[in-house]
Amino acid sequence: MKNLVLSIRGFINRNLYRFIIKPLIFLWPPEIAHNKLKTFGKAMSSNVLGRSILRILFYYKHPSLETVVDNVRYDNPIGLSAGFDKDGELANAYPQLGFGFAEFGSFTGEVCPGNPGVGRRLFRMPKSKSILVWYGLNNQGADKISERLKDKEFKIPIGVNAAKSNLTPEFVLEDSIADYMKTLRAFKDIGHYFTINISCPNTQDSEPFAEKENLGALLEAINAERTERPIYVKLAADLEMNQVDDILDVCMEYKIEGVVLANLAKPEFNNEFVKEELTFHKGAMSGLPLQRIATSLVRHVYRYTRGEMTIIAVGGVFNAEDAYEKITSGANLIEMITGMIYDGPQVMGEINRGLVKLLEKDGFNSIAEAVGSRNPLPKLKD
Ligand SMILES: Cc1cc2nc3c(=O)[nH]c(=O)nc-3n(C[C@H](O)[C@H](O)[C@H](O)COP(=O)(O)O)c2cc1C
Repeated sequence: MKNLVLSIRGFINRNLYRFIIKPLIFLWPPEIAHNKLKTFGKAMSSNVLGRSILRILFYYKHPSLETVVDNVRYDNPIGLSAGFDKDGELANAYPQLGFGFAEFGSFTGEVCPGNPGVGRRLFRMPKSKSILVWYGLNNQGADKISERLKDKEFKIPIGVNAAKSNLTPEFVLEDSIADYMKTLRAFKDIGHYFTINISCPNTQDSEPFAEKENLGALLEAINAERTERPIYVKLAADLEMNQVDDILDVCMEYKIEGVVLANLAKPEFNNEFVKEELTFHKGAMSGLPLQRIATSLVRHVYRYTRGEMTIIAVGGVFNAEDAYEKITSGANLIEMITGMIYDGPQVMGEINRGLVKLLEKDGFNSIAEAVGSRNPLPKLKD
């Protein structure tokens, strides 16, 4: 009976979104739509009535989805990825929408206006099921955001994604490290894990922390003030495999708990989108063009680290099968944004319901049992 009610709810939500709500939202330019949705979400989740409505429409929970990763307990493995909530404003909405966790940010040490062209820094690519992003790390800065969140009680685990302020074209190692450290210090008592974003494709000084020496210096500074909280490093989608291995080696040397795979895909290194949809030639793509790359990265990293590092997989997750493929390839947790934009806010609940069925079908009692199950590790030679 419960399953029937959930199926009917899902059917109504999905079609309402597809045929009425999305066409209306898509009348606005994407950056404006993003801001309006956040304003609406904030208003809805600011009071008991609004939160109850969201919960009735979208919430889903099942014991087999509970998982513990690096001592943090998650109700389910589906989280919001960084970039949707750049100022950490919608914490009250995510649990009701069925998310198991949410990653805020990227936050930067200084206030960051982002790239020029406010209101025109996102581009929809609907045939490619993708969004071209040219935001450039706009956020209110670590001080202001941490001050607002410092006494907040979160209902689900919160990731704090730290990036380096995108204010100058020159890279100065010490200043850049100080910028990350400012955010980590400001958020030292806020949230449940840190993501160190070394892979924003829209910054003026490119991705200098993908270099071994720079990354080592950053992680050394972080380790000097390390707490119990897990730290994950977010990698770019389009690195050479030897660069990925170098980054992993440095992360393992500094005992970083895990990696987030991956950030947006740059069109110049990608062939998995409909070419005529690329009307703006800066920025990088989310969604389907990233799906296969992210999964390949998960498979590689799981094997390279022999399953010893936590993997948060993100990129082109639209349904339960997509999420399960990443989990069985080696991911402990999943994040998403684009699937929610194209398919609606019921999609997290649908993915979670689908995951329960997929686990059952394969005879697993928990997400943890399924992690890496279709990516068996080769035996080590003596
Ligand atoms: C509008 C938008 C803004 C983003 N901003 C950030 C960001 O500030 N920091 C970050 O680490 N990733 C950012 N990302 C990348 C996402 O976190 C994620 O890695 C990527 O979108 C792939 O997931 P998806 O296919 O489910 O959207 C952004 C993505 C989108 C769509």
